[in-house]
Amino acid sequence: MPSADEPFTLIIFGASGDLTRRKLMPALWSLYAARTLPEPFAIVATARTALGADEFRDRMRGAIGEFARLKPPSEAVWDRFAAALRYVSGDPTDAGLYTRLARTLEELERARAGAPNRLFYCATPPSLYDDIIANLGAAGLAEPGAGGFTRIVVEKPFGHDDESARALDRQLAATFREEQIYRIDHYLGKETVQNILVFRFANGIFEPVWNRNHVAEVQITVAESLGVETRGAYYEEAGALRDMMQNHLLQLLCLIAMEPPVSFDGAPVRDEKNKVMHAIRPIDPRRVEEVALRGQYGPGFAEGHPVVGYRDEKGVTKNSRTETYAALRLLVDNWRWAGVPFYLRTGKRLARRASEIAIRFHRTPHMIFRRSPEGVEANTLAIRIQPDEGIALTVVAKTPGPDLRLGPVRLDFRYGEVFGGEPPEAYERLLLDAIHGDPTLYARADWVEKAWQLLQPVLDTWMQTPGPPVYTYEAGSWGPPEADRFVARGGGGWRKL
Ligand code: BG6
Repeated sequence: MPSADEPFTLIIFGASGDLTRRKLMPALWSLYAARTLPEPFAIVATARTALGADEFRDRMRGAIGEFARLKPPSEAVWDRFAAALRYVSGDPTDAGLYTRLARTLEELERARAGAPNRLFYCATPPSLYDDIIANLGAAGLAEPGAGGFTRIVVEKPFGHDDESARALDRQLAATFREEQIYRIDHYLGKETVQNILVFRFANGIFEPVWNRNHVAEVQITVAESLGVETRGAYYEEAGALRDMMQNHLLQLLCLIAMEPPVSFDGAPVRDEKNKVMHAIRPIDPRRVEEVALRGQYGPGFAEGHPVVGYRDEKGVTKNSRTETYAALRLLVDNWRWAGVPFYLRTGKRLARRASEIAIRFHRTPHMIFRRSPEGVEANTLAIRIQPDEGIALTVVAKTPGPDLRLGPVRLDFRYGEVFGGEPPEAYERLLLDAIHGDPTLYARADWVEKAWQLLQPVLDTWMQTPGPPVYTYEAGSWGPPEADRFVARGGGGWRKL
């Protein structure tokens, strides 16, 4: 594994796209400004748009000013960063681009000392992955140069179903070895998500209660107040199940449900997550409606402003049945979790942006405070992924006064209060890991395939016409009321966030 101060070149395909502007370049800048980016480095950006190098640098400066955690760039530091940016325009389906890229890479590597370390980043629409991978292979760019590394980072979606995910894996495997491939799921890079493992496995007190004997249910919510914005056309093909559930929410479930890995390293962590995927009870294609529900937002309000319904968004068809909300009830059939329901929900244009994992524990077996049972709630541990990052444990306490009254209180840890400042962006951590060759927080091929397999019966059933209902919910609400029937059995309902 190369050390942190070895040189590297990052080659970004899709450099004129949203991901580069909003996430990649701001993350690279913040790493650089915080002096955590290994040096010397170069960033070779490529896209179809014909741009001069200075024009590209100006655009990136604007993006960094708007989206980076650390800003504004000081002139001197910015100039040094900008000098490392190159732009090579070209069509990723054209072999000529790869010849030009190879030349640029060799020039850059000749001009500096150290190994030829290269990290390719696919930030294009997935329809271009095939061409990029094949062309990299044909141009001899997939093979590491002497003493250096060559890696490729692939953005989700990794395929759009079981079959296409396998096809993508086959294509990647024909050109790259598995240890060269980094499948990014940015949720795994979020500070609060990484902290799930620290919280579980660096504290002794949770392990004894982290199982079916003490846990009544788990709820995982990833709620967004945004609509589909400018991505209507992509979203029409994806929907909430593919866009969020197949990756981010299932990853969160695995981190909560996994057994302790022997160490915090790539293979042990990813092996344990895979075991969870194997333990999730397969969804019976004939009973999809019992465990999966979908919805679509109609008109309503977002942050006080009226907003259109999904079918009136740009790029969306008027009779679209694409789900913007999805809820699932899953069971993990193993000794730790047998019988504990895992409720997952995600949606766009919900009442607010709030992602949280809530572990609800069993009630006390016998209540001695018979005269005031109304204040007694089951203990709940809530891990707030974003915003207002933190962890809160709800316990019952005596409320002050002569009467014996009980009420819930929260023991609350807030990142902002304890650590101050903004936590690093997920992309900062993940880019650094890929540069350093640490795949622990990246998705492995077998995990991705298993996730598609799990959801395939739902995808197939939702494809049917007429298929199960697509419940409409008002933009700015908490989703379709019908989703409540899932959680009704547990007695609690969805948590109010
Ligand atoms: C992406 C989805 O993976 O995650 C988007 O494609 C979604 O639709 C985004 O908005 C949410 O990420 P975050 O970090 O804002 O919660």
